[in-house]
Formats: sequence, structure tokens, C-alpha cells
Amino acid sequence: MAEIICVIGNKGGTGKTTMSHMLCQGLGLLGQRSACVLTDTSREPLQPTGRRYITADARTRDALTKVVDKLRTLDDWIGIIDGGGNRTEMDRKLYALSDIVLLPFRDSHEDLRTVVRDLEMFPRAYAVPSQWPSNAWQRDAADRSVAQIMGAYRHRILKPVSALSSSKLLLQKQVPDQLPTALANACRALARQVLDVLEVDFAEPAIEEDDIGVVERLSPAEMPMRLAPNARRPH
Ligand SMILES: Nc1ncnc2c1ncn2[C@@H]1O[C@H](COP(=O)(O)OP(=O)(O)O)[C@@H](O)[C@H]1O
Ligand SMILES: [Mg+2]
Repeated sequence: MAEIICVIGNKGGTGKTTMSHMLCQGLGLLGQRSACVLTDTSREPLQPTGRRYITADARTRDALTKVVDKLRTLDDWIGIIDGGGNRTEMDRKLYALSDIVLLPFRDSHEDLRTVVRDLEMFPRAYAVPSQWPSNAWQRDAADRSVAQIMGAYRHRILKPVSALSSSKLLLQKQVPDQLPTALANACRALARQVLDVLEVDFAEPAIEEDDIGVVERLSPAEMPMRLAPNARRPH
């Protein structure tokens, strides 16, 4: 049976669609089979060509049921459902059928307040800082706000996905032949965390030497938000 992850949150523009595709691409780069499932009726389906994952169109209720039923029959697959936003009923439904849930949020007080409410509503959910500032002092300030407002949930906050302009390449109908290394690294870093949470064992495919220095793992002291230690495995 496939693992099912949904990316939801009661707010638009937090980066759900981008994060869903980054996660799928990262899983593909780590040798996992994944499907990115579109549920947002305002978005067009994307071509799977050139991606490390397949795309599925589930914009109607029937199509969603079919896609989820199909995923349930597949072993060793991970299905990522990109939720539409501002649809609490749909979010509840997706939550009910998912193994884990990701809640992207940006560095704004409104996003922080919303994600706290969503974390309360969805006990199996993890919050993921999205479009996080890469500038050191802005990032520090953002991390401090998170520590202040979300301290009680620190074990349910994953490492941030940085603001990366190349992330929009994955939302193009057709992806370019070559994706920038920084994007591939960010996709892999996100996928590694999610595999840790799912406790899926994976052998890291060899990566090019140039990439190694860039795959960062921050020390717990640097960020107040970490996975619970027992959810982590060395690899
Ligand atoms: N990591 C990121 N870095 C830079 N821009 C991002 C990132 N994630 C999302 N964005 C941008 O933010 C906007 C909203 O993202 P999107 O994924 O469509 O959010 P949602 O699906 O939650 O509405 C888009 O313009 C997208 O390109
Ligand atoms: Mg979206």
C-alpha cells in the first residue's frame, strides 16, 4: 500500500503546490516512486515528462477517489496530494485519508497564527516553513518568531524550505531538461525529512561531488524546530 501524504492548510499562497512538487521530485531523486496528485480546480494538470515522478489529475471528487484507491493498491509508492487551500471540508477529508500531513507556512504573523490553528486541528500534521528567507539575519528573525509563536509545537516543525526562485520551474507545464543543482538539493533535503518521518528506509543514491557541500543539515542549536529525536535515523 502506498503511503499518502497531503499538503494542506487553511490559507492560499503558502507554497502547497510548490512544496508538493519539490517533495515528489526529491523523492524521485532519492530513488522513491511518487505521484503528485492535483486537486485544485483552478490549476491545470502538468506534464510528467522530465520529472522524477508522475502526475495525477484528481480535480473531481470521483477522480480523487479513483486515484487514492489506485495508490492504495501500489506497494512502495508515495502519493502526495496537493490540497487546494481555503477549503476546510476538503482538508478534513484529505487529512482522514493521509498517513502524514504537511502544512506549509510563510514567515508572516498571519501564516504563523493560521498554522498553529491547523496544527491543533490536525494532530498528525507537521508544519513546514516555506519560502524561508535565505538572508542570515532575516532567517534568524523568522526563526525567532517561530520559536515565540510556535514553541509548543517545535517537535512538529520540519526544517525550512528556502525561498528559491527556481522552484517555479517545477510548476511549469513542461519542466526544462536540466534543473538547477540548488533546486535538486532543496528537493532532496525535503524528501529526506519526510522519509525520516515516514520511517522509510532508503539508500541514498550517489550524488555528484559538487553537490555534497550544499546538502545542509542544521544543528539543533541553530533552529528551535526539529523533529523529535526518536523520529530521526542516521544515514
Ligand atoms: N520555496 C519557494 N521559493 C520561492 N517562491 C516560492 C516557493 N514556494 C512557493 N513560491 C511561490 O509562491 C507562490 C505561491 O506558491 P504555491 O505553491 O502556488 O502556493 P499554494 O499552492 O499554497 O497556493 C508562487 O508564486 C510560487 O512560485
Ligand atoms: Mg496550490
